[in-house]
Amino acid sequence: MPARPAASLAFRGLFSGDAGIAGQIEPPGRLSTATQRVASDPPRGHETNVSNNPQRAAVDGAPVGRQPDEPIAHPPETRSAHMPTFFEFFAGGGMARAGLGEEWTCLFANDFDSRKGQTYEANWGSGGELAIGDIRLLSTGQMPGHPDLVWGSFPCQDLSLAGNGAGLKGERSGTFYPFWGIVEGLIREGRGPRVVAVENVCGTLTSHQGRDFQAICRTFAEAGYRFGALVINADLFVPQSRPRLFVIGVHGDVDIPPALMAAGPTAPFHTSALRRAVEGLPGGVRRDLVWWSLPTPEKRAAAFADLIEDDPDSVSWHTQAETKKLLDMMSPLNLAKVEEARREGRKIVGTVYKRTRPDGARGKAQRAEVRFDDVAGCLRTPAGGSSRQVILVVEGNRVRSRLISARETARLMGLADDYVLPARYNEAYHLTGDGVAVPVVRHLAQHIFEPLLGAAQAKQQAA
Ligand SMILES: C[S@@+](CC[C@H](N)C(=O)[O-])C[C@H]1O[C@@H](n2cnc3c(N)ncnc32)[C@H](O)[C@@H]1O
Repeated sequence: MPARPAASLAFRGLFSGDAGIAGQIEPPGRLSTATQRVASDPPRGHETNVSNNPQRAAVDGAPVGRQPDEPIAHPPETRSAHMPTFFEFFAGGGMARAGLGEEWTCLFANDFDSRKGQTYEANWGSGGELAIGDIRLLSTGQMPGHPDLVWGSFPCQDLSLAGNGAGLKGERSGTFYPFWGIVEGLIREGRGPRVVAVENVCGTLTSHQGRDFQAICRTFAEAGYRFGALVINADLFVPQSRPRLFVIGVHGDVDIPPALMAAGPTAPFHTSALRRAVEGLPGGVRRDLVWWSLPTPEKRAAAFADLIEDDPDSVSWHTQAETKKLLDMMSPLNLAKVEEARREGRKIVGTVYKRTRPDGARGKAQRAEVRFDDVAGCLRTPAGGSSRQVILVVEGNRVRSRLISARETARLMGLADDYVLPARYNEAYHLTGDGVAVPVVRHLAQHIFEPLLGAAQAKQQAA
């Protein structure tokens, strides 16, 4: 069972209060969806499992977010003495927040999907930090305090290899620019974040022959940030293959501790595709590049089979006839894999993919292909049902199949079991399939963000 990530205490006590511009906050406005904030709500709501509490599970009713005319609930001084602070854009279900952990304080979060907002608040409380609305319509006046970190998991559709090729010029992935406009606004107001992190698919490295990656890096450099990129596959932490690109920038005022930097690219995080993309950076931008030195985590303990629910409530097991139909769609090679798994006698979980393959004289046929490599394929948002994963659970002679359950998708993202999921299966799958893997964020926080912020704070105290 995935455990809630424990935030590192490495930076505790290092954050003194340097004043933000909180007194200059403009009235919030232009948010499309809102509801009353419930003062008695806990700030973080991780105590209850959805299946035990129908009220907490009902995340598909009330609108969410701060009222347009509701005052911001945060105190003026937000660079606290003990806790680093952050703004979370494209927040979805708050998986970046889950990864940062309870030692971090969220000052502001935004997403334009009100359904995801309901889940966000079911998990993190309705304390007023979540603003539902299009990022293009936000103004920094709606955002309280001085964040240490600004996080942006901006949309991937235009950057993914299966996408339309629009890249950063696309309607969705182009939201990188309004996101950065907010960072620039914060800098102008004297509350620029020390650290900015963006996350997206690895297709960003090659989109428009590398020009989109160059544009992102140039944006960091021109705003005065040194930056470094990493490709991290979530399969180092959870049994899901999910490689993602992270670009982490640190403001030029911050002295980067030497231990956080490598002299050049290092495995496994600086992949050949990443190195090629970096080689394409113009010299003036490349000057600000940092090769982050990130430790490789210990070998992951959890196997795919460990995450499987015996009695899921979000999906049903296929009938024997349905499972037989699936097996009948397999080639002799794939059936041999099932046979081998059977002979093992223990519980083994495979992932089934349906593919159209050449089929001799008949032309093409749909085939079921199975993988028993203990890693689920990358979760994606379900479009028309085709991308929802089917699992095959083999325990000796017992072979069963079904769709992967909502809770299993959450576990594959590293979310703890008390994370409240939407009641509807597709909505839950959409939320988890769109997220950032929680332990990856924790790893970055522990090994990059927290040491950076700790060093910056120590320098400030010494001055
Ligand atoms: C890749 S997902 C990030 C999910 C999030 N990191 C998580 O862990 O759940 C991108 C998110 O951006 C949101 N989004 C897309 N376009 C937006 C826009 N114009 N303004 C605000 N949010 C937007 C989507 O609703 C989606 O939740």
